[in-house]
Amino acid sequence: FNDCIIMAGGSGTRLWPASNSKTPKQFLTIPGSGNFFKAAVDRALSVIDIEGDGKVIIIAGKNHVPHVSETCRSYSRDILKHLVLIPEPEAKNTAPAIVCGALYTDWISGRDRTILVLTSDHIINPLEVFQADAAAAAALAEKQRLVVFGIPPSKPETGYGYIEAGDGLSVSVDAELRKAYGAGGGPRAFTVTSFKEKPDKKTAEQYLASGRYYWNSGMFAFSSRFILEEFRKNAPEVILPFDKLRAPDERSYTFSSGLQVLTTWLDLDKAYAGTAAISFDYAIAEKTAKRAMVAGAFDWVDIGSWDEYAALTGRGRSEVYTVDSGNCFVDSDIPVALAGVDGLIVVVRSGKNGETPSVLIAKKGESQKVREISDQIRAAG
Ligand code: GDD
Ligand code: MG
Repeated sequence: FNDCIIMAGGSGTRLWPASNSKTPKQFLTIPGSGNFFKAAVDRALSVIDIEGDGKVIIIAGKNHVPHVSETCRSYSRDILKHLVLIPEPEAKNTAPAIVCGALYTDWISGRDRTILVLTSDHIINPLEVFQADAAAAAALAEKQRLVVFGIPPSKPETGYGYIEAGDGLSVSVDAELRKAYGAGGGPRAFTVTSFKEKPDKKTAEQYLASGRYYWNSGMFAFSSRFILEEFRKNAPEVILPFDKLRAPDERSYTFSSGLQVLTTWLDLDKAYAGTAAISFDYAIAEKTAKRAMVAGAFDWVDIGSWDEYAALTGRGRSEVYTVDSGNCFVDSDIPVALAGVDGLIVVVRSGKNGETPSVLIAKKGESQKVREISDQIRAAG
């Protein structure tokens, strides 16, 4: 790929209170898995044109600038010159973020670019397999297609988009990358018959049973001019407000801990005020006719609830005292005592680190309901 766009401006309310508007999920460090956002930057750096003018364009909220620059502080000067942060005037979901990144790279390079769009809230391993699948996606993106990464589904999850795979497509990657798949394997790619963002439970169950559907991992590959044209065709309400934007120049940047930040991009505020708040999945992926899917051979984990978090990290890392209690997960920064309770998830943030003190108590198996109260939580700040 020439460049990567990292989408890091989500609000991540499902892991509240650890994840909150000030520190959303992507900026958390998970025991045993590291920091989500840092992992996304490393992933991006592993696939861009690092010898040439490849860029990692990070798009996040204005209030996330300290998290982003703190995390990027550990990179050397040589790496930092490939990174740029575009702070969004307001969160308008992923479609405007992607338009913004594609316009930016088009402007500063003055030519068509192959771009990989990465999420910043997933765990992906091993890196070599991801790189090989990304290389297959790059080859397809060069043929003027929107490429999505499909994950073989293991349950009828309603929080994901689903991709219906069609005919097989042949793609090649070089021998060095092919090693990542082990003996005899190679990248697998398909045409896309249909794309359905977040179906209801019954539909998701049918998709799972059919064997033809994959989860959408939320990552995309395309060439910049192709995707900007697709936006004009399918989502003019998203792209038209960006038409008055002026190309950035050297006065547009400031530096934060060595990281280039595009602080004054003229009329970006107006473009964001006018653009539609919609996800890329609804605005483009569901609508465009030219699509392809790479079946991801890498492991992909989206920690969507405290139950999943608990399953991944084990018993938690808190000072806990118990009597007649079992099967509980506690994540707290102050001591917690449990008496006569069973199967609970207890998350406590005492406010030590300047955040609003808050407590979550959920029954194990029910923590996905945090998503349902996310509006109330957001309203409370
Ligand atoms: N810059 C920016 N601005 N980034 C955003 C914004 C925004 O307004 N909203 C979300 N993001 C970032 C998030 O931080 C995350 O890295 C990524 O974009 C995806 O956003 P989510 O909010 O996490 O989307 P989702 O989980 O509901 O759905 C997407 O991901 C699923 C897989 O986890 C979709 O692509 C689904 O189809 C997919 O299955
Ligand atoms: Mg997500």
